[in-house]
Amino acid sequence: MKRMMIGVLMLFAGGLAAGATYADENLTGVAKERHDLMEGMAGAIEPMAAMVRGLQPYDADRMRELAATIAASGGDALTSLFPEGSHDPAGEALPAIWEDWDRFATLAANLVDAANAVAEAADNPPGPPSAGPPDPAAGGGEPQAMDAGMAVIQLGMSCGACHDDFRAEDDS
Ligand code: HEC
Repeated sequence: MKRMMIGVLMLFAGGLAAGATYADENLTGVAKERHDLMEGMAGAIEPMAAMVRGLQPYDADRMRELAATIAASGGDALTSLFPEGSHDPAGEALPAIWEDWDRFATLAANLVDAANAVAEAADNPPGPPSAGPPDPAAGGGEPQAMDAGMAVIQLGMSCGACHDDFRAEDDS
């Protein structure tokens, strides 16, 4: 399970890096603003993933700051950059956004919850790789506080859930 989770994180970080190299000088106005918002979120989640993978020293305060950056970029801050009629063929935003607005807005709101969950889990760094399944004899099965590694994975899945349906050339 742990190995799978790390695999997910690696894929995820690779996909984001590919996304971050996508720079389109043809974007203007609100299409440029949302591109910049997304790039800002990629710039926040990359160090989060690096910390939970042990590639950077784990720092709970930094984790909380990065989570706050993403939380502030979700919800209305995100949806307000996708006004009706703003489809721009030069960007990657699909027309489906405006055909299924409620779902798009729900996914934008879910992103805030997922980012807040990372902030809440920030004091629980990812455990040792040998953690394994819960041992019933040792009181396993008790609800455990989510660790920051799992919270960051869920945050990444929250990005991907929206990109799956609403972003062209999805690579995250
Ligand atoms: C509610 C939907 C939604 C969520 C949630 C979301 N994105 Fe996006 N993202 C989009 C859309 C739509 C585009 C395409 C925007 C465009 O090209 O105009 C995009 C594009 C991007 C891009 C490419 C830059 C660009 O604009 O072309 C990156 C990088 C990115 N997102 C990162 C993230 C990260 C990281 C997260 C999570 C922390 C995230 N996104 C969450 C909808 C979302």
